[in-house]
Order: sequence, then C-alpha cells, then structure tokens
Amino acid sequence: MASPFPFLLSLLLLLLASLSSLPDSSAHLTLDYYAKTCPKFDQIMQETTTSKQMSNPTTAAAALRVFFHDCMVDGCDASVLVASTSLSKAERDSDLNEALAGDAFDVVTRAKNALELACPGVVSCADILAVATRNLVKYVGGPFFKVRLGRKDGRESVASHVEINLPRANASMDQMIDMFTSKGLTVEELVALTGGGHTIGFTHCKEFSNRIFNFSSTSEVDPSLNPKFADRLRQMCANYHKNPAIAAFNDPLSPGTFDNLFFKNLLNGMGLLASDQILVADPRTKPLVELYARNQTVFFETFARAMEKTSVIGIKTGRHGEVRAQCDRFNTVRSQS
Ligand code: HEM
Repeated sequence: MASPFPFLLSLLLLLLASLSSLPDSSAHLTLDYYAKTCPKFDQIMQETTTSKQMSNPTTAAAALRVFFHDCMVDGCDASVLVASTSLSKAERDSDLNEALAGDAFDVVTRAKNALELACPGVVSCADILAVATRNLVKYVGGPFFKVRLGRKDGRESVASHVEINLPRANASMDQMIDMFTSKGLTVEELVALTGGGHTIGFTHCKEFSNRIFNFSSTSEVDPSLNPKFADRLRQMCANYHKNPAIAAFNDPLSPGTFDNLFFKNLLNGMGLLASDQILVADPRTKPLVELYARNQTVFFETFARAMEKTSVIGIKTGRHGEVRAQCDRFNTVRSQS
C-alpha cells in the first residue's frame, strides 16, 4: 500500500501556506465579535462614518493615513490616537505624524461616543479605527475588505518608535521594502497599499519642494517630473514657506475617488513624492505599477488583501491591552520612558 506520508505532508504544507498570510495573534479575532455585546456596532459605525464623510470629504484620506501609521508603529492598537502628557511624548506628536489630519481623530471620537452610549466599555478604539477606515475607503470608491474584530487598545504610545517604523518621502526602495516586509507585507502589497493611500488626500508642499525648487546644480526641477505638472506645482507652492498649509492633491485627476489613476499618473511623471516616483524607477516595483495602472481589478484585490493583513499587524488581545474609555488617553496613566 502506498504510504500516506506524501499526501499528509502536502496537506500540512497547504494548511501552513493558508495560515502564513496572517499572524497567529489574529486567530483571536472574529468577524462577529460584537454581535452579542454590541449588536448595533455595524450600524453605528456606518452612520457615523457616512455622516462625517458627507460633511468633511477629507475624512477618508485622513483615516486611511492614520490607520496605516497606527498599524506600522507597534501594531494596530490605537496608540496613534493617544495624546502626549507631561510625562511622555506620544506617537501622535512625533515629527512624522505632525500632519495627520484632525478629521481622522474626530470620526473615531464620534463613533466612540455613540458606541459608549449604546454599549459602554465594550468596543476598542483600535477596532473603531479599523472599521472606520474600511467603511470610508469603500465610501470613496475603494474595495471592501473584511475587518476581524476584538483587537484591544495598546497601553503605550512612544513618539520615538515612529521614526524607525515609517518611511519618509525621501526613503530608498530598500528602506521601504525592509519596513514593509518586517511587518509581513510583500512588495506587491507595498505598491498596492501606497497607491491606495495616495489616490486620495493631500500632500503639503514641503514634502516635495526639493523636487520643484533648486533640485540640482543642473536642473531647477526633478527631470522625472512631467514639466507641465512641475510648473503647476511651482506656482501653487511658491509661498509655501510663508504658508506651510498649502497642499496639493495626491491624485490631481481624481482627488476624491479611490481608483487606479495614481499608477497612471506615476507613469506620466505625476507622482508628488520622491518615494512615489521611485516606484516607477525601481525594477522591483515598476512592473507592479504598470500592472495596477492597466488592471484596476488586480489592484483592488491586492489592496483589499493587504489591508486585511495590515489590520492585524501586532494586535493586542486579552490582558495585553484594554478597552479605553476615551481614545486619546489610557485608562490608567502610567509613566513611560
Ligand atoms: C511607502 C511609503 C510611504 C510614504 C513615504 C508616505 C508618505 C506620505 C507623505 C509625506 C504624505 C503627505 C502628508 C502631508 O503632507 O500631509 C502622505 C499622505 C498620505 N498617505 Fe502616505 N506614504 C507612504 C505610504 C502610504 C500608505 C501605505 C498609505 C495607506 C495605506 C498611505 C496613506 C496616505 C494618505 C491617505 C495620505 C493623505 C492624507 C490626507 O490627505 O490627510 N501612505 N504620505
């Protein structure tokens, strides 16, 4: 009789492969986590995110960026929402997070207030941020993705952890790939996530000013930029030193819609950030930019899968976290280094 060993081995390998995409800790999360303890969770989240986005259309981009910055730094535990105290500087006040938009914090606070009335002490801020982001991405035209629930809120938020976990606009491709792969995200997912993030929202002039003013000794403007686009940016940002709030749309062709135009723009020299532009310059990522520019379905599928993975990075469950009463402070104040 043939040995069952090869068959069992391949079954085991298949099982391992299917588990390998999500970290072990995510096994504690479930889609219907609040079904009994907070039956109105989905409805309250839907109502809150829709009304906030309708009154402030910048909310979707704000939330998506805040969510990404939360998950990359010590996991999706709402540590980015915590305010600094006299004893400790929180993530939110690190240099890299200084431009996180207030609408993201506001939509979480609104949802938290409504949920605390309906089911006090039950729903974590980390779950609220994850679901708000998912709902808002969908609202502006992006793909739906599943968000499993039950993540707890973290008990620390340390500003100095931000710099080592998030890329800056002048990051090299190696640095970006290292940061993403260290969180279990692939190069395909890096490109899809970045394209998803930068197909909506804004960037302040200071983030790309070195590409449009005094670029080099031989060229005033980065030659990889489309010249007409560079001219428009130079006009728009002419006074950015005096007015640092001036910002450009990340995707000038469809700024409020989640679509694959970011990738088409990149191929036409219309990426704002140097970190976006190297996606088309580097041979490891260029074919992916071309693929997502050609095929929005593949982009959406990869983005949705990557967001599902991102949403369980470093999550805290059980005693490793808490359900905060207010999203901007820990339940018990602890001193931090
Ligand atoms: C790959 C490396 C990345 C770098 C270097 C980077 C850097 C930046 C910078 C410098 C800005 C402009 C901020 C400002 O001036 O206010 C920005 C905006 C934004 N980023 Fe990224 N980003 C990266 C990836 C991502 C990813 C993966 C996402 C989400 C999945 C994302 C989502 C966003 C969003 C939504 C905005 C607009 C925010 C708003 O309008 O409020 N970014 N990013």
